[in-house]
Amino acid sequence: MPARSRSAERPALRIAGVPVRAFKGGLFVLGLVPVARWMVLGLYDRLGANPVEFLIRSAGTWTFVCLLLTLAVTPLRIVTRQHALIHVRRMCGLYTFFYASLHFLMYIWWDQWFDPAAVLDDIVSRPFIFLGFSAWLVLVPLALTSTRGWMRRLGRRWQQLHRLIYLAGVLALGHFWLHRAGKNDFLEVYVFGVVLVSLLLWRVARAARRWWSTPDMPVTMFDRGGHV
Ligand code: HEM
Repeated sequence: MPARSRSAERPALRIAGVPVRAFKGGLFVLGLVPVARWMVLGLYDRLGANPVEFLIRSAGTWTFVCLLLTLAVTPLRIVTRQHALIHVRRMCGLYTFFYASLHFLMYIWWDQWFDPAAVLDDIVSRPFIFLGFSAWLVLVPLALTSTRGWMRRLGRRWQQLHRLIYLAGVLALGHFWLHRAGKNDFLEVYVFGVVLVSLLLWRVARAARRWWSTPDMPVTMFDRGGHV
């Protein structure tokens, strides 16, 4: 009888009953829906009176949505016990970087006409642009080190580095808040802010619970001294 391969023996990983590969495929397609929507709206001349503003803002909003989804993967995985969800976190993170870079590129292209001096001047003179740029900068090393190779190379430091996504979230919230402050329209900023803070608090509470439940010095009857 031919030897069966190891992968054939392992049961396929599933998320909510769906094989991980199919789930990831569906998520990949879903992640491109905003781009498809912009194309369709553009084709039918439905991008509004100011298409550039519409597209830059829409890309900014989708960046934030992807960032929050990336942060939500671990809590969702633990609460729903769908541990295979870990396999979609990287894709969510890369979509965050994709939309952030598209948002940045649209701004450099349509707002600043690829003038590096104008971009630099805007970054240093407008706090709202400074915060957005800082958020994007924080995402760069996270995207670059998102591969298995970098995970292996960095070991424990990989996790510490990737906690910077919370910093990107806080900077992005400041960016969004300052952008809306001029218009005195904060509803979406509050919604995104409440989700971000809840996810942050969940992490802090979990870390605190772990810290309390870890004894300083394990004392058992098998210790060297023999004391219980
Ligand atoms: C993680 C990175 C970023 C996130 C999450 C983000 C998010 C957002 C959001 C949510 C908006 C407002 C959308 C609305 O009002 O409906 C916005 C607007 C804007 N962002 Fe960002 N942003 C990021 C990075 C950047 C960067 C790097 C730049 C440029 C240096 C930038 C420039 C702008 C501009 C110019 C607008 C206003 C567009 C307009 O009103 O015409 N953003 N961004």
